[in-house]
Amino acid sequence: MTPAIKSLEEYHKVYQRSIDLPEAFWAEVANDFQWRKQWDKVLEWDFKKPEVKWFDGGELNITENCLDRHLITQPNKKAIIWESNDPSEPSVTYTYRELHAKVCELANVLKSLGVQKGDRVCIYMPMIPELTMALLACARIGAVHSVVFAGFSARSLADRINDADAHLILTADGAYRGAKSIDLKAIVDEALADCLGVRSVLVYQRTNTPITMQPGRDLRWHDEIAKVDNLCEAVTVSSEDPLFILYTSGSTGKPKGIMHTTAGYMVHTAYTFSNVFQYQPDDIFWCTADIGWVTGHSYIVYGPLLNGATVLMFEGIPTWPNNGRFWEVIDKHKVSIFYTAPTAIRSLMAGEHSPKATHKLDSLRILGTVGEPINVEAWEWYHEHVGKGNCPIVDTWWQTETGGIMISPLAGITPTKPGFATLPLPGIQPALLSEKGEEILVNGEEGRLCIKFPWPGMARSIWGDHNRFRETYFSAFPNYYFTGDGCRRDLDGYYRITGRVDDVIIVSGHNLGTAEIENAIDEHELVIETAVVGYPHELKGFAVYAFVVLLSEAKGADEEQLRKEINEFVSRIIGPIAKADKIQFVTGLPKTRSGKIMRRILRKIAEGETDNLGDTSTLLDPGVVEEIRKGRV
Ligand code: WT7
Repeated sequence: MTPAIKSLEEYHKVYQRSIDLPEAFWAEVANDFQWRKQWDKVLEWDFKKPEVKWFDGGELNITENCLDRHLITQPNKKAIIWESNDPSEPSVTYTYRELHAKVCELANVLKSLGVQKGDRVCIYMPMIPELTMALLACARIGAVHSVVFAGFSARSLADRINDADAHLILTADGAYRGAKSIDLKAIVDEALADCLGVRSVLVYQRTNTPITMQPGRDLRWHDEIAKVDNLCEAVTVSSEDPLFILYTSGSTGKPKGIMHTTAGYMVHTAYTFSNVFQYQPDDIFWCTADIGWVTGHSYIVYGPLLNGATVLMFEGIPTWPNNGRFWEVIDKHKVSIFYTAPTAIRSLMAGEHSPKATHKLDSLRILGTVGEPINVEAWEWYHEHVGKGNCPIVDTWWQTETGGIMISPLAGITPTKPGFATLPLPGIQPALLSEKGEEILVNGEEGRLCIKFPWPGMARSIWGDHNRFRETYFSAFPNYYFTGDGCRRDLDGYYRITGRVDDVIIVSGHNLGTAEIENAIDEHELVIETAVVGYPHELKGFAVYAFVVLLSEAKGADEEQLRKEINEFVSRIIGPIAKADKIQFVTGLPKTRSGKIMRRILRKIAEGETDNLGDTSTLLDPGVVEEIRKGRV
């Protein structure tokens, strides 16, 4: 691997070169990998279509780069250290050699079930090593994985299975999460009532929960593994062949199947892992995300394994059996790089608890955050009470759609400022655009964050809906990729993300589309219509506030009971993460004459700003605002 950047001066030099000669820059990074056939062309692009191809004509298999390559140099190095939800259950490790064998076995099972190159495989699993193996086994045979976070409901799972047209589901009997366990197989069974295309379900035994097995469809993981051997030649795939689909919420109702391809994603995740975290071969790297989100794909699975790193994988949650669980795991496994989300930090900050007073934490070298803006107070607490004032913090900005980190300090190299993602990584060309669509060139201004040149890890499409891909990301500002985020660039040229400027709310680091929640609430038989907005929340960053208009039949109904029912709907249709924190019943929503809901006003009311509501003159019925203001919950 090309050595990581070692100084600020070098960063500036490399950055400049990556802008002047982007193709030469990325080709050099790509040369570090094992290719079966060299690419013909580094980059072809057109943001109008949009069409982006990196390393076109090249052939490879990403798992050879994650696994086989390391068998020569470091077969006995630990690839995965797995820590259970239950502190008394022994941890498990896999060396690169062992992981390679496990991935090959599972790939052989997939083949025996008829999975072929290009087929989609849906993965709905707990945070166990077999989840990592599942992704890699798909990639081994050129199948496209679609991981669905194991907190999503049967309905959400069914939608994703159908959208991707997956014929095989990999799952487990259940998942542990703190004191709770979730019956994954039962949820899959419920989902599959609506998924006629599914032919097989492979079930891993994790919780020993009783499950029903449908003969002819459901198979036990252990039984199938026992039938195959542990050698599986990697299938040759093209650079631009899809590697995975991962669903993310959007401004309109239906989740988007973000599609990533192979070579560019590989190059980007590997490069950013090594540079941002300043990875060293003896590091123990822990990213606390779930593999159900992109952070887990890129920085639990691909980025670290491409670098031959040792990854800690944790099944549990930060607050069980107590608030010290993260710190205990760090000490137990001598974690040196720790990457988590602001929401986790805020939940652990509460009270007087200082981890450095109760735990050693002396293995820590570098800290990272991702997922939402980190408030200065949380940043400082993290720095002082976890990093003991001497671990650099990397505040990494990126998205499911960007594939890997885009704007971030290089640990220990880029001087940091709390709340700032600081500077773009080499190869990344951010731009701030004014509402009129003009690029803001001066510093000290805020605008809409866009990217004006392709980067290898960028999404190539929305599965099955390329028009939506263009509409969502490439139409607001022609010739720019629009991120949906607001951002300020200060006088030093440092970037600070200010939050979403579209109808996406980030709750505890999870993206939720307001329209998706509205649709779920509207399914309640007593609901006419709903408007959902986000409001600032101390622990979650943002929380969900729903304004709900009820049918006249609901008059006199028990409001608390209705709120409960509405949230049960949301839980069932999307998942518990999307539940509304506040539900206010109103007789009407503030709408313009053309029928558009004025969310700006609702956002202000939800935030508690009730006096200065701005211009309400275009409203059809300004009276409704007064009623809503008074009834704020
Ligand atoms: C949105 C993307 C990237 C992996 C996890 C989330 C917000 C992400 C930061 C950060 C401020 C951030 C943005 C972005 N976001 N990282 N360091 N500072 N905001 O992926 O679910 O696709 O969400 O998360 O609003 O657009 P995602």
